[in-house]
Amino acid sequence: MSQKNQIDGIKACVFDAYGTLFDVHSAVGKYREQLGDSADKVSMLWRTKQLEYTWLRSLMQDHADFWQVTQDALDFAFDATQISDPDLREGLMNAYLNLEAYPEVSDALFLLKTRGYKLAILSNGTPDMLDSAVTNSGIADLIDMNLSVEDIGIFKPDPKVYQLAVDKLGVQAHEIIFQSSNAWDAYGASAFGFNVAWINRFGQSKERLPGNPDFEIKTLIELTKILN
Ligand code: LAC
Repeated sequence: MSQKNQIDGIKACVFDAYGTLFDVHSAVGKYREQLGDSADKVSMLWRTKQLEYTWLRSLMQDHADFWQVTQDALDFAFDATQISDPDLREGLMNAYLNLEAYPEVSDALFLLKTRGYKLAILSNGTPDMLDSAVTNSGIADLIDMNLSVEDIGIFKPDPKVYQLAVDKLGVQAHEIIFQSSNAWDAYGASAFGFNVAWINRFGQSKERLPGNPDFEIKTLIELTKILN
């Protein structure tokens, strides 16, 4: 990690969605009572498998969209915890369309937007999933563009995904700062050529991967201080 404190020349702030803007564990949070002792295990397995399936499907060159992958991962998590409950499955999938934004998100986005930055989401999520998430969490007016990997049919961290933001926003890679709490995504975006702020919400260890995120911060509010 470099020791930079601030950065100039940024035109667009691009955000990962799940885990960065939206709390993926808030879905299980709504069904904690029904899930009982299995709640945390289901939530962790659901997220872990969901990401694994994105990487594996990209390697297998057999793309299915993130809605399908999210259902497949939930089915795995249910199997692993011996749960079979179609209503609960449906409730959890619906909850994924209504995830809570982290507490600082709308204030941070508002401050950045007021300062004139273009704000975009760049996510594995399908366009419908992203529309629902931004609308239901009340941040739709703050985001200029939702960019989904469905435009190219491969998941992060394929460099084509990061290129999509350059193409759609009409700015150069070095004029973009990308934010993700998913360390592997932060490293992938950095290896591609973005400036990157790794939102290390959970105090995770750094990855041993190509790329070198320029900033490591705990919440998105700190981003407002990084941008000069
Ligand atoms: C996304 C996943 C990586 O939103 O969280 O793209």
